Amino acid sequence: MKSTLPARLGLVFAMEEEQQGLAEHLQDVQIHLLGKREYRSGTLWGVPCVCVLSGIGKVAAASTVTSLIQHFEVTQIVLSGVAGAADTSLKVGDIVIANELIQHDMNAFPIFPKFEIPRSGKSRFATSSELSQQLSNAAQYFIQHELAEHISAASRAQFGLDQVQIVKGLIASGDQFIQDLQVLAALKRELPDLLAVEMEGAAIAQVCDDFEIPFAIMRTISDEANEHAHLNFKQFIHEVAAQYSLGILRQFCAQWFKAN
Ligand code: ADE
Repeated sequence: MKSTLPARLGLVFAMEEEQQGLAEHLQDVQIHLLGKREYRSGTLWGVPCVCVLSGIGKVAAASTVTSLIQHFEVTQIVLSGVAGAADTSLKVGDIVIANELIQHDMNAFPIFPKFEIPRSGKSRFATSSELSQQLSNAAQYFIQHELAEHISAASRAQFGLDQVQIVKGLIASGDQFIQDLQVLAALKRELPDLLAVEMEGAAIAQVCDDFEIPFAIMRTISDEANEHAHLNFKQFIHEVAAQYSLGILRQFCAQWFKAN
C-alpha cells in the first residue's frame, strides 16, 4: 500500500560517530525527545527528513524505527553505517547495499525453520529496489568524483582505499559484534551468499515490512569480523565511514528531491 502522507525521509544511524558532520547540514531543525532518543526533524539538502541515533542492536533499532513511522510519519527509511565483511571478496572501505536482510540470531527451531521470523513466514526481507538503486548511484558518484577530496591521503593510504567496490547483496544482523573467523565461517556455511554482518539492519527490515514502509540499508566495511575487528574501528568511522555517509547522502538527497 503506497503511503498518502507527504514524502518524508527517516535517516537512522546506530552510533554517534556514523552521523558526524550531518547535523550542520540539517536546516529548520526541531528537536523532539521520545523514548530516550533525540529525533531531529528538518530539511537536509532540500529533503524533508527526521534524523535519529538509534543506538546499537536490534531492539534499539526496531524501537527507534517504530517511532519514526508511527510518531514522525516518515514515508521511507535509510540507515547508513558500518559492517564487518562476510565475504573474502570484500575489503575495508568497500560499500555494501543490502538487497535482503536476515536476523542471524533468530532461531525458533523446531517450531519454525531456523532464521524464520514467526508470523511473517520469511527469513529474508527485501529492501526497496528503488531506494537501494538511488543509494548505489549516489555511492558510485561519491567514490568516482569526491572520495579523494573528502578523505585525506593519509587515511586513504592507511585503509587502502583504492578501487573501492560497491556491491549489492545479503546482510545479516544479530546482537553480537563478530570478531571470530570461526563464528563467521559457521554463518557462511548456512548463508553462502552473505556479504556483511552488522547489528541493526534486519530489525529495521522487519519493522518496515510490518508497516509496509520502503527502506534501504547501506554499510561501509569497517573490518573483517576477525580478531582485529576492534582495532582502528572508531578511527575508521571518524575518518572514512562518516565522510562516505555525508557525501553519499548528499548525492542521494539531490536525487530524492527530484523524484519526490
Ligand atoms: N559492525 C561493524 N563491524 C561489525 C562486526 N564485525 N560485527 C557486527 N557488527 C559490526
